[in-house]
Amino acid sequence: MKKILVATEKPFAKAAVEGIRKIVEVAGFEMVLLENYTQKEELLEAAAKADAIIIRSDIVDADVLEAAKNLKIVVRAGAGYDNIDLASATAKGVVAMNTPGQNSNAVAELAIGLMVFAARNNFNGSSGTELKGKKLGIHAYGYVGKAVAFIAKGFGMDVYAFDPFVDKQIIESDGVHFIDNVNELYSTCHYISLHMPANAQTKKSINLDLLSLMPKGATLVNTARKEVVDEEGLLQMFAQRTDFKYVSDVEPECKGLIAEKFSGRFYFTPKKIGAQTSEANNNAGIAAAKQIVNFFVNNDKTFQVNK
Ligand code: 3PG
Repeated sequence: MKKILVATEKPFAKAAVEGIRKIVEVAGFEMVLLENYTQKEELLEAAAKADAIIIRSDIVDADVLEAAKNLKIVVRAGAGYDNIDLASATAKGVVAMNTPGQNSNAVAELAIGLMVFAARNNFNGSSGTELKGKKLGIHAYGYVGKAVAFIAKGFGMDVYAFDPFVDKQIIESDGVHFIDNVNELYSTCHYISLHMPANAQTKKSINLDLLSLMPKGATLVNTARKEVVDEEGLLQMFAQRTDFKYVSDVEPECKGLIAEKFSGRFYFTPKKIGAQTSEANNNAGIAAAKQIVNFFVNNDKTFQVNK
């Protein structure tokens, strides 16, 4: 019987796990659960017997792929797959997939929540500002960027987007201003919300040159990946621009320095929580389980990312 390992260092909500179990068992497979693990060895041991693995931000590197002798497919229940060694997966003939769009509303709601929190001075009781009428720049217009735009318009924000891979018509049909130059996005917008994946092109791409273009009252919101921000440039921006705030879903490496010198102008979640809602867990977990069943039963590779 095929073993489907659910390996989540940060567990799904219980209902999502039961939803996954049901789909796996109805298909005649067995679900194995490894939650809250703290050692890589635990993952290596569990992976050794798995035909398929469902993960979140769990690291599936060459060691895991080497240990998983029976593995045919790994599905990242979520959007970003920078935690999977795609080259090793391809070399081993393992199909890697993600579940695009399934947790995007949860991340978008958090991005807006972080904006409100920053605008109200981290809820410290002093007089803050409103989002209404402010210019929001969405940097990368995928599922999450689109969902942020939709909510932000409800707040009365003036929304702009830059994404070299998305057509002007798609962005404009959402009532969002299309910007074809990244510098213009940053020089136009009071708020910038990051939604790009972490890859060789995007890592450290949000640098001082870009940030210093932002108008007075600048807030950078990062619910993407900490790696896309150049932390040296970030520290310089904090030092040069006393109006600048940075709110991020997950702490940067330089958190200590920021906390020491720039108190009140930042907030970082201690653990990545963008997709940590029961709805997002359900959507992404169940989509992952269905994709695995469809792969084994129908050889469906629709969401493969290592083609
Ligand atoms: C994603 O890429 O889908 C999000 O960053 C969510 O990550 P998580 O599953 O670890 O919460």
